Amino acid sequence: MEKIIENIRNHFSGLYDEEPVIIASPGRINLIGEHTDYNEGFVMPAAIDRRIYFTLAQREDNRCEVHALDLDDAFVFNSSDGLSPSEKVWQNYILGVVQRIKELTGKSVGFNCVFSGDIPIGAGLSSSAALEGGFVFALNQMFDLNLKKLDMAKIGQWAEHNFVGVKCGLMDQYANIYGQADKAIQLDCRSYDYTLFDTNFDQYSILLFDTQVKHELGSSEYNVRRAECHEGVEFFQTIKPEIKSLRDVSPEMVEQHKNDLSEKVYQRCVFVTSENRRVELAGKALASKDYHTFGQLLYASHEGLSKRYEVSCEELDFLVELSHQEDLVLGSRMMGGGFGGCTINLIETERCEAIAEKFKKQYKDRFGIDLLAHKVNISDGVKQIASLSVKNA
Ligand code: GLA
Repeated sequence: MEKIIENIRNHFSGLYDEEPVIIASPGRINLIGEHTDYNEGFVMPAAIDRRIYFTLAQREDNRCEVHALDLDDAFVFNSSDGLSPSEKVWQNYILGVVQRIKELTGKSVGFNCVFSGDIPIGAGLSSSAALEGGFVFALNQMFDLNLKKLDMAKIGQWAEHNFVGVKCGLMDQYANIYGQADKAIQLDCRSYDYTLFDTNFDQYSILLFDTQVKHELGSSEYNVRRAECHEGVEFFQTIKPEIKSLRDVSPEMVEQHKNDLSEKVYQRCVFVTSENRRVELAGKALASKDYHTFGQLLYASHEGLSKRYEVSCEELDFLVELSHQEDLVLGSRMMGGGFGGCTINLIETERCEAIAEKFKKQYKDRFGIDLLAHKVNISDGVKQIASLSVKNA
């Protein structure tokens, strides 16, 4: 982390004279509750100690200069122009945020920015929400926008919907803004009320296995799943008009109407309604430190994501299957949108290294790809970490 910060500060001072603020914006994990956020259900994410770091300084005009060191790319735009999506995806997270801030506050901002980070891209750790959150947070602070935390999260989500084209829920942005060290956030995606749970896990640790694959279908299938859930809701509304989302439907109700739904929509509804229940049970298991039950819930979540919701892939299924054979892996499941990225695993701390080595070998033999293991710590949400100029440091 120190190296990244030193690097962006040096880069910034080589280009600009102003004193920048430094913002640290985290990625996230999700313990359980997948594809439930856009169904107004329950999720349990947490911010992690993998972050994007930004040096930013305000300008007097409306020019915005952004340097992405890890991509060796930069772009310039004027925030008072009518902004529209760019062909380069990474730019859309920023353009979307600036556009939405303009719409909500009437302010056209101007800034210079250099950023770099250590969140693996495409691994399902929400580097995109970290990018959005970092900008929203910095601009809110620099321009006294008085945005509330929930507004900030929603600005990031708006950028995804309107500039990136993924109709995501609010989980990633929420975890980025609201994250707290050593706490999982059990979030109700309807009311946005939340409960925090301690995550010290005693003799167990969270370990991520990164498949290093990202199958292309990801974002298009995401929007398809959303539409399929909506189809389910439309049916249930014919029975009970007060139903607003799958949040209002129970697994028992889905079973009762199995024959009224297409096979596909039925499977999607079974998954979402049972996953909501699993998040509630997972909260209870964490509160009573019942990590065995918690682990079983992770396995059940994966089974549903793979077989009923169909957002897993061969590589993820292979890793979860390997975990099943290890007594000291209490739970394992794919994490995030799916079609690649990481599995999240709860493993006895002392065995983490040995199990990672074993899985790396088996994964390489099977797919010819290097499996990565990421040990992550649950950390604070987006925040300012320093405002010293390089000259004074
Ligand atoms: C992506 C989306 C989130 C959420 C997950 C699946 O990460 O951005 O809103 O829907 O997929 O749980």
